[in-house]
Amino acid sequence: MSKPVLILGAGSDIARALGHELAAAGHDLYLAGRHPEELEKDARDLQLRYSINARGMFFDALDFDSHQTFYESLEPGPYGLVLAFGLLGEEDQARKTRKHWEKIIHTNYTGCISILTIAANHLEQAGEGFILGISSVAGDRGRKANYVYGSAKAGLSTFLSGLRNRLHSKGVRVITVKPGFVRTRMTRDMDLPARLTASPEQAARDIFKAIIKQKEIVYTRWMWRWIMLVIKCIPERVFKRMSI
Ligand SMILES: NC(=O)c1ccc[n+]([C@@H]2O[C@H](COP(=O)([O-])OP(=O)(O)OC[C@H]3O[C@@H](n4cnc5c(N)ncnc54)[C@H](OP(=O)(O)O)[C@@H]3O)[C@@H](O)[C@H]2O)c1
Repeated sequence: MSKPVLILGAGSDIARALGHELAAAGHDLYLAGRHPEELEKDARDLQLRYSINARGMFFDALDFDSHQTFYESLEPGPYGLVLAFGLLGEEDQARKTRKHWEKIIHTNYTGCISILTIAANHLEQAGEGFILGISSVAGDRGRKANYVYGSAKAGLSTFLSGLRNRLHSKGVRVITVKPGFVRTRMTRDMDLPARLTASPEQAARDIFKAIIKQKEIVYTRWMWRWIMLVIKCIPERVFKRMSI
């Protein structure tokens, strides 16, 4: 296999578009997620288009106990890992039911820590490769609309930052991606502002560029870096009265 990349949550709209970028660059792919039959179809399509090796595999971020065996079943071991799974959830439901907020936190935070810890140890031993985690601008500041999801993404961003600090002298790069709005299944019921919203293909191009240009923290689309800089500067006493 040629520098194989493991994509977790490979059925996500952003991940599917990124799969094309990575395959076009010659990377073999492990496409992992909860619907391996569909991922196997994607894998066959990518193999035919780009003459790479690809396969679909079952992976559930919430089944922590399976993560070690899952990772060790990958032969050869991945050179790169893209963590793309996530769950926005319903903030209203999260305020009422423990099961719902637990699912949001475990999908966007605990499940990530579980698999990233295993992958980080393997890549550290290999002495090369990359870990790319898709976090969110929602983790940059808590808003009433999605603070359970946002707090999990904040935790993920901080975890990735620590991992970068740990692995930087070991030849392993850690990249944090913070999308703003992206038109995907996750946001299909939302009325998103066109100028601030990326297509999955645009987001995938930004993410791929981050991998090859050795970036560390990437906002997609680019203007979100500046939007979030302004949002983070708003004093709490003002911010708590705002509806954004
Ligand atoms: N769209 C946006 O505006 C936006 C903004 C900021 C950040 N993001 C982040 O971008 C990433 C990709 O999301 P997307 O927008 O492409 O949305 P998406 O198409 O809804 O993809 C989410 C993916 O996560 C997978 N997933 C959820 N729970 C899982 C679990 N327990 N185990 C394995 N896979 C699981 C889903 O798998 P199933 O197909 O099995 O449901 C789905 O493939 C996510 O981390 C999201 O939080 C998106």
